[in-house]
Amino acid sequence: MSRHEPFKPTCSGVQQLTPRLEPWMRGLLTGSRLETLVKQYGSPLNIQSSEPFKRNLSDLNQVAQKRGLKFKPFFARKANKCLSYIDAAHALGCGIDTASLAEVEQVLQRGVPGSDIVCTAAVKTRDLLQLCVDNGVTIIIDNADELDLLSMIAADAGRRARIGLRLCGFKHEENILHSRFGFPLCDLHALVARCEEQADNFNLIGLHFHLNGYDANHRVSALRQVIPVATELKKSGGPSFFIDIGGGIPMRYLEQSTQWDDWCQAHGEALLGAREPITRDNHGIGRLVHEGKILGTVDAYPPYHPCVQQDWLASILDAPLDASGLDADNGDATIAQTLVAADLELRCEPGRSVLDGCGMTVAAVQFRKRDSQGNLVIGVTMNSTQCRTGFKEFMLDPLLVPKAEDRQPTDAAAGYLAGTYCTESEWLSLRKMRFPMGVSVGDLIVFANTAGYLMHFRESRSHQFDLAKNIFQSDETGPVSFVLDEIDG
Ligand SMILES: Cc1ncc(COP(=O)(O)O)c(C=O)c1O
Repeated sequence: MSRHEPFKPTCSGVQQLTPRLEPWMRGLLTGSRLETLVKQYGSPLNIQSSEPFKRNLSDLNQVAQKRGLKFKPFFARKANKCLSYIDAAHALGCGIDTASLAEVEQVLQRGVPGSDIVCTAAVKTRDLLQLCVDNGVTIIIDNADELDLLSMIAADAGRRARIGLRLCGFKHEENILHSRFGFPLCDLHALVARCEEQADNFNLIGLHFHLNGYDANHRVSALRQVIPVATELKKSGGPSFFIDIGGGIPMRYLEQSTQWDDWCQAHGEALLGAREPITRDNHGIGRLVHEGKILGTVDAYPPYHPCVQQDWLASILDAPLDASGLDADNGDATIAQTLVAADLELRCEPGRSVLDGCGMTVAAVQFRKRDSQGNLVIGVTMNSTQCRTGFKEFMLDPLLVPKAEDRQPTDAAAGYLAGTYCTESEWLSLRKMRFPMGVSVGDLIVFANTAGYLMHFRESRSHQFDLAKNIFQSDETGPVSFVLDEIDG
């Protein structure tokens, strides 16, 4: 198959959601290579490449460079546990965002200096804070108890803890962007005063927010409120000061923009009984019918965003600092220009979006059967936690790679992919799949673009199944080879 020839779908939803595929993924979809790898490492298997990761980070860096900004992305490694990404990010001069003791330990062991690590763990234990203080890791403070504990640890260690304050409660248009994380903006002055009083323990080097969702306008509003305070703090503080805008940079999973709207439309019609169900038992996936109307939204990461990655960041940086345009001092300066003028460093913590194109999860078909309603059920050696995030469903059609040898001819079929857990709700997808070439024992089901959260966020050893192995395709030119990530070593 040539690089540009589309992969002919041998599996797709009855309402299609066609995945975008990287060339390295396409290269693995023909021949017997995948089958050999699954035999060697087990099913399911996470196959990854850090090449798209480097490209995605470089693209972000370029947006900032073009605008003359001091900029540093910190890869949010909670999105994927593999150590290869730490090395790749570090080699590019990027930092790492960590969310647990183990994550910080591993990053330090890879040789990343504390100054290139930020800790944003939601709950920070004494051990974690101690490790951060001892190694100069920047700690993003979420609450007053954390600050109290850190003050004791820093005093005992005789070290100044490098900290950033996490903020929330920004005004956006007529609303407040509420969050359970961080300090309401109105508490900031008292917090800064406390840091100044305890300057022996705390070195306040930045302000931070991470907002729910993916709306660039929310980030613009937050920056408009944070930049003036950060500018003042920079004047009275040390040589550098950062604003960290967290993660939430959106990415696109779909090949075609219209498929998501079409899917939602078809799903709504099915829920209203106007067409055949496209989900198991006409599942609403977060939507329900009330008095002839569809309520709620599909509980899934939206697989299509109109503005993503570097364009999303550019749209924030090029927004005017002054929403009204009435600020005589700043004229119509953009956010980027204001950050440059104030000599503020911009940081971000992308997870999912920089893993775009980096991974796929491959699993073997183990059985086919009919359930008591006559539905085709395809049993796959993989469980639902091995391709899930906090959402109910991953809105991307898997692919089917037919068994390379001795495949018996099978009729076209449609049915549901079931996983290995012993519950009635254990489906790899709630969506009905079509198999134009049928489906055979030994065929492989491939979930594309799973590196961001889908592989590891929910993975569990329930029933004592082994966790999936993680292998990386080598970066070198020449014959393709694979190595086990050291997280599994
Ligand atoms: C504090 C913080 N930073 C960064 C991220 C990464 O977000 P994303 O993967 O959406 O870029 C998260 C995700 O939950 C987070 O909580």
